[in-house]
Amino acid sequence: MTAAPDPAAIAALKVALGPDGWLESAADTAPYLSDFRRLYRGATALVARPNSVAQVSAVVGLCARAGIAVVPHGGNTSYCGGATPDASGAELVLSLGRLNRVREVDAAGYALTVDAGCTLAAAQVAAVAAGRLFPLSLGSEGSCQIGGNLSTNAGGTAVLRYGMMRELVLGLEVVMPDGRVLDQLRSLRKDNTGYDVKQLFLGAEGTLGVITGACLKLFPQPADYVTALVAIGGMADAVALLGRVRDEFGDAVEGFEYIPRLAHELALAHVPGVIAPFDHPHPAFALIELAAPKPWPELQARFEAFLGAEVEARTARDAVVAQSAAQRDALWFLREHIPDAQTRAGASIKHDVSLPVARLAEFVDTATATLATLAPGARVVGYGHVGDGNLHYNLSPAPGVVRGSAEERAFLELAARVNRVIHDLVATFGGSFSAEHGIGRLKTGELERYEDPVALSVMRAVKAALDPAGIMNPGKILARRPAVRRD
Ligand code: MLT
Ligand code: ZN
Repeated sequence: MTAAPDPAAIAALKVALGPDGWLESAADTAPYLSDFRRLYRGATALVARPNSVAQVSAVVGLCARAGIAVVPHGGNTSYCGGATPDASGAELVLSLGRLNRVREVDAAGYALTVDAGCTLAAAQVAAVAAGRLFPLSLGSEGSCQIGGNLSTNAGGTAVLRYGMMRELVLGLEVVMPDGRVLDQLRSLRKDNTGYDVKQLFLGAEGTLGVITGACLKLFPQPADYVTALVAIGGMADAVALLGRVRDEFGDAVEGFEYIPRLAHELALAHVPGVIAPFDHPHPAFALIELAAPKPWPELQARFEAFLGAEVEARTARDAVVAQSAAQRDALWFLREHIPDAQTRAGASIKHDVSLPVARLAEFVDTATATLATLAPGARVVGYGHVGDGNLHYNLSPAPGVVRGSAEERAFLELAARVNRVIHDLVATFGGSFSAEHGIGRLKTGELERYEDPVALSVMRAVKAALDPAGIMNPGKILARRPAVRRD
């Protein structure tokens, strides 16, 4: 599938989509051809923009018959190039952006049914309007789409309490690689009818079909949030504090984020509007959020007393508790702009790893010592969702390295070796090299290297069974394989 698509097939696709349903000029298609991190640049003959499930089905069916590969495309926030076509021009981009209706809010059943092209923020708003909560929460929620969240099994800042996207799904609707529609769009909590087929498509990054709709789990809307930034000594303090906070406040703990000093300094230096909550510098911070389903006025007082005792016992160095919604927003603004700050500061080498929580501190110590030799001068910016063991263990070059300079190029040339060392270490510690950002195109080699061979063979068998022609998002998750000669 490297030849340009058959013009007759492209013409048929345009007819099926109607005049508003496709883009083909270079200017119109450009936003669909490079990924969020600008790691990849692709080409396409057509961007399809269906506005109904029937149109998605027609497009995929036509592509299947014409042998045209299909690259599903949501909010384009993938960190791994999962929604970018290759450079051949032979792949069709299938944008879900016009499939953006909230189909049904079932407040009594705590369920929300949406099109795949709804933004995460729109789903959250629909839930709030019904007095409910849809708890997935990500920095990119204004632009990422539910279909992408499902396809990458997105995580974010509330996984500790509510789980990842996979755990938030009741039902799914998928257009299969031959164009048939799989209708599992039910809101049942109990449904023991054989294999849980919908699970195949969650985290499959569009390689097994196109998710067009989902029924999502809702939760009671918290009435109160109590949010604090706690100054601590480092990762070991964070993990110990996490245990004590959970012992004391149980399931009220919704978020526990780790922010090392350097991440805070980068955010302060590069993102206007970021606050400095303490007078003195501290080695690290924990951003902790508690939520209560009923108005619970004592929660803030109890949490303040708890943090006071932590400071007294010197297990925490200082703490600020948000006194208003604006102060809460300011603390989250700081946390959510760390990736942006690191990008604005210059080049970076990124990792999205997860580890058993109890081994995080040991991992950080070992990895930091190893990198001091491998990448001398480079700065570790290792922040993340410590409550669920997910660390964005990133690297920035030494201070003063200028964008585009020879020093920056030398730093980036270390990326492959740094990735190998970090991912090997993660494997040794029983962790995962991909916690929440998926595999996409970027990490197919890592999947081959670190995944259990039996699991890999099951993945290949599933792919071959559902998509024998290999038209769905080729080269994502599973690396392209040379065609097998049968002559
Ligand atoms: C985050 O946690 O901020 C996001 O996953 C993005 C990232 O850190 O790279
Ligand atoms: Zn993250």
